[in-house]
Amino acid sequence: MKKALLFGATGQDGSFLAELLLSKGYEVHGVIRRSSSFNTARIEHLYQDPSIADRTFVLHYGDLTDGSSLSRLIRTVKPDEIYNLGAMSHVKVSFETPEYTCDANAMGTLRVLEAIRESGLLCKYYQASSSEMFGDSPPKQNEDTPFRPRSPYAVSKVAAYWMVKNYRESYGIFACNGILHNHESSRRGETFVTRKITKAIANIMTGQQDKLLLGNLDAQRDWGYAPEYCDAIYRMMQHDTPDDFVIATGEMHSVREFVELAFSLVDLDWSKYVVIDPRYFRPTEVDALCGDASKAKKLLGWEPKTTFQELVRIMLQHDLRSVGLSL
Ligand code: NAP
Ligand code: GDD
Repeated sequence: MKKALLFGATGQDGSFLAELLLSKGYEVHGVIRRSSSFNTARIEHLYQDPSIADRTFVLHYGDLTDGSSLSRLIRTVKPDEIYNLGAMSHVKVSFETPEYTCDANAMGTLRVLEAIRESGLLCKYYQASSSEMFGDSPPKQNEDTPFRPRSPYAVSKVAAYWMVKNYRESYGIFACNGILHNHESSRRGETFVTRKITKAIANIMTGQQDKLLLGNLDAQRDWGYAPEYCDAIYRMMQHDTPDDFVIATGEMHSVREFVELAFSLVDLDWSKYVVIDPRYFRPTEVDALCGDASKAKKLLGWEPKTTFQELVRIMLQHDLRSVGLSL
């Protein structure tokens, strides 16, 4: 039985990846952070009681800012594969907490790579790199597009990206960068724009909210469906050679289009509810992200399936159901 160590297990992608790895017969070790309130809602359905002798899903406390906890985990779990999805992942918040963002995202990656090197373990490593690294490099972005990061978050991810490449080239570690464009789902964090919109519509429909405050409606993103992107992550780690891959749908839509479509599905006029609030503008914005995933299609046989329209519907349907409504 293969063992996987998963940083970011409580996040959107971590929860889908844990499900995928368990379905493939892995023993999955998820790393969680201590929090004053429960942060395990996305993986509660996977929980296995510690009294189960042959349990396949095990949770450990750890933190990417705590190097000794990482070394200890790697020494004790002895994973075949490490998936580093842990990060301070909110671009706007990274302008408020730049030091912490770089510590967790960039130094955290270095700490894990060093712990692998020092352990002498032959284990594979996946790095959650991001299309945000492309910044204002015009679309379509592929593996050869220059990085022009526009936020502390993006800079931290660029540093981590190069660290992964350097450890691959210097020490022969099987280490991959998945450069994923935005991907969403009903488990998306509620402060990212897509989920903020679908949650707000559900609240508006039940009279719990009357306005939706948003920032830049003109920004354009390439939005895919998160479970499919976790399948791409898995495929990268099973490929013969370690490599870097862009994962994207190749289609771009503006925040305004997302808003229009979501509100139209419940027959509401979005302009009556959406208010532009400059608090949600970023000091520097990334205007247009759209990826070219032809390398992943050719080498991994990966292709996106869920369309933009289906994605909006899936997310909205979920949030409506949680308040007793349906599309
Ligand atoms: P997410 O929902 O925000 O999850 C982030 C995970 O990282 C959570 O489990 C979080 O734990 C954990 N984490 C945060 N700080 C940590 C630390 N110091 N030590 C250990 N764990 C820490 O993010 P996601 O959407 O699943 O994204 C997964 C990864 O892919 C992230 O690295 C993100 O930057 C990257 N990425 C995401 C996208 C996207 O569109 N979703 C695109 C490209 C790249 P808590 O639950 O305790 O906060
Ligand atoms: N969050 C948020 N909230 N974004 C808003 C809002 C708002 O009220 N109004 C407009 N936006 C715009 C942002 O300015 C941005 O241009 C766009 O909506 C998307 O914002 P987010 O959903 O926060 O995602 P992101 O693109 O900044 O970052 C996500 O994708 C990256 C991959 O490109 C995150 O998941 C990152 O972790 C990931 O790396």
